[in-house]
Amino acid sequence: AALPALLRTAPKAELHIHIEGSLEPELIFQLAQRNGVALAYPSVQALREAYAFTDLQSFLDIYYAGASVLLHELDFFDMAWAYFERAAADNIVHAELFFDPQTHTARGVDIGTVIRGLHHACQRAHQELGISASLILCFLRHLSQDEALATLEAALPYRQHIVGVGLDSSERGHPPEKFTEVFARARALGLRCVAHAGEEGPPAYIEGALDVLQVQRIDHGVRCLESPALVQRLAASRMPLTVCPLSNVKLCVFKTLADHNLPALLQAGLCATVNSDDPAYFGGYLNTNLLATFEALPQLGVREAYQLLRNGFEASFVPAEQRDGWI
Ligand code: HPA
Ligand code: ZN
Repeated sequence: AALPALLRTAPKAELHIHIEGSLEPELIFQLAQRNGVALAYPSVQALREAYAFTDLQSFLDIYYAGASVLLHELDFFDMAWAYFERAAADNIVHAELFFDPQTHTARGVDIGTVIRGLHHACQRAHQELGISASLILCFLRHLSQDEALATLEAALPYRQHIVGVGLDSSERGHPPEKFTEVFARARALGLRCVAHAGEEGPPAYIEGALDVLQVQRIDHGVRCLESPALVQRLAASRMPLTVCPLSNVKLCVFKTLADHNLPALLQAGLCATVNSDDPAYFGGYLNTNLLATFEALPQLGVREAYQLLRNGFEASFVPAEQRDGWI
């Protein structure tokens, strides 16, 4: 009884949340109506019933369809604000939000509209909820490097609103090496770098993200356990892994939460963190992830809870001198 209460009430950082994946079906329908966008589903219930995924791609198809209702600055603000209210309820005190500008610019939405709306929500979250929040611009890896480069250039007027860049969407067949130049350009601009790797892709994609993209965190990374040499390297460098347990089960990376390798990752000395990924699609926000994961895995106790939450702060892109009050 003490452990769930500790998990619920402890201050937390969330480092792997796609803000478009926080769009709840109710808000999708509200925005569709407000913007006159037609949806392929007749009701909130019908949309929710479509959330039965077999792999990453089956999710991404529905996730991009859901994002099609976002057109105006206020839409992006409203989406992020709804997330921050839920984050505050989970006692998240720091959040680094992924966003996918190409999902929106492909529909004719200006990247400035996207970033301004999200940035205003981050500012207000700090003022009204005491949450420090920053934005990580993700490139869609199923698109070309040239398109990623054009996206980064288009974001330059908003450079000060972005802490880093990431790499998401369909992993298999799109190795990190495809994005060597755009990550080099991002590093030259002083941006932090992260990449999804080892969710569905092999350990070699994690190595590529480290060696070629020079990332400072690996998103997911759960397949690292297939390579003992890689685990050694990740542990020795305290390379963070932003693990998303409910996501992994919904996308069939693990059959059940009880089969998740989070205990083994911690046992190996890795800097694992727990995150929600796409909470509107995967069955819950950060506290739900933590409570369900600890419930399903009795190997995880109070020590592991502290370790995971501390790892989240350690892995954040907040400068050390601004971390006072955190665990
Ligand atoms: N993996 C890859 N791309 C994504 C994800 C994910 O878990 N969520 C949103 N885009
Ligand atoms: Zn993700």
